[in-house]
Amino acid sequence: MRRLGRAGVALGVAIALGAVCAGDAARLAPPAVAQPSFTPGAPGVGDRYLPEAGNGGYDVHHYDLQLRYDPGSGQLDGHEVITAVATQNLSRFDLDFGRLAISALTVNGTGARWSKAGQELVITPSAGLRTGRRFSVDVRYAGQPGTGPDAKTVDTGFIRSRTGAVAVDEPTGAEDWYPVNDHPRDKASYTFAITVPAGVTAVANGVLEGTQATGNNETTWRWHEDAPMASYLATVAIGRYRVQTGPGNLFIAVADTLPPAKVDAVLARTPEIVQFLAGMFGPFPFDSLGGIVPAEPRITYALETQTRPVYGSTFFDRDNATTVLAHELTHQWFGDSVSLHDWRDIWLNEGFATYGQWMWDEHTGQGSMRDHFEEYYGKTDVWDPPPGDPGPDKLFAPSVYVRGAMTLQALRMTVGDATFFRILRAWADGHRYGTGTTSEFIDLAARLGGGSVRGLLNTWLYSPGRPPHP
Ligand code: TRP
Ligand code: ZN
Repeated sequence: MRRLGRAGVALGVAIALGAVCAGDAARLAPPAVAQPSFTPGAPGVGDRYLPEAGNGGYDVHHYDLQLRYDPGSGQLDGHEVITAVATQNLSRFDLDFGRLAISALTVNGTGARWSKAGQELVITPSAGLRTGRRFSVDVRYAGQPGTGPDAKTVDTGFIRSRTGAVAVDEPTGAEDWYPVNDHPRDKASYTFAITVPAGVTAVANGVLEGTQATGNNETTWRWHEDAPMASYLATVAIGRYRVQTGPGNLFIAVADTLPPAKVDAVLARTPEIVQFLAGMFGPFPFDSLGGIVPAEPRITYALETQTRPVYGSTFFDRDNATTVLAHELTHQWFGDSVSLHDWRDIWLNEGFATYGQWMWDEHTGQGSMRDHFEEYYGKTDVWDPPPGDPGPDKLFAPSVYVRGAMTLQALRMTVGDATFFRILRAWADGHRYGTGTTSEFIDLAARLGGGSVRGLLNTWLYSPGRPPHP
């Protein structure tokens, strides 16, 4: 307002002077200052696979989430404050939000109109939001989010069990439990204040600032993740957990019903695995570290939630359980620090994480990189769909993981070890805390590894069927 106000005054004075000189009374009329036009923000960020995910017209800087959760009833009460900057003159804008009930919503402290259309929460502030200006959205909401304890299977989102809950949100589950610009293209910092019954642990991403007893036989757990984080990597895990802490803001939480010798002992190797990976990929990007193992048999997968992956407890029935840690911890560089600009490029997450996993396997005597490559090269079922464009329904197809990792190994066999690891480190370093695309990766690999690499990567990423042996 101030900048435009001053320009308006200057313009008025200039016209007044001109009018006096010309002696033309008609020109003494107040000048018409052009009003900027305000238009709605787009209902999607423009992702090729998930066109509705995220929204346009603004950039979120911070999510402040104050949550109260009652494991007994499954009731979540949320109070969120979003700080964002408009990237166009906005007449209205969308957030992505599921089916929890909103009780109050303000923009810049003033009541705003809002409505729901599917996953879109459409917000019309009382005045237009000017491009480049910071604004805040304050939302209060409540209800029982996501998948309840009686569901036979779990999908993604906020998963409630009888004794707690855990949020695992890839690719668009975050909107299950907080209003969000739900796309990794809009990363933001987070603070969490989670109030739970006394004796219950509430874990989130980043650094634990402290816990505080409320008057009501409850405890509030405060966490902050200062590094930019994609929405699907935000998590909360609530329940009865055993906790291991250590240097570097290490915080590991294992559900107290799981066997310590099988689970806690494996999780305790997190810093060692990170150190091994940092030797290849460059410094660990975040200022805290850990892991979460909920007692939820329906979670049969793991997710690279930033700083603190969530692991399904069934992984720890196996002998080589550290392999899944290596996968999720590799994602901290590839997926979390360097995030997807577009979901079509999912191999930049899963191919790289599988590669790191195989490197750890080699390091621990569970088969060399070459062995992994040759074993899969002999198979017929790991080739399609090509990992560079698997299609929206096959984001997590085995070929994205396996052929994605083999793509990197084919690159390594072509350019040699020194250049290969220079490329990986340059990728992690050049896109740290941001996003990257496959074409940016191919450009980087061709710059450092020579022009022939371009054809090799295009074939490995985009051609159907088995590529020629490198
Ligand atoms: N990205 C996960 C991995 O490490 C797999 C995954 C895909 C996932 N979608 C998910 C995990 C949803 C939990 C929830 O391979
Ligand atoms: Zn993965």
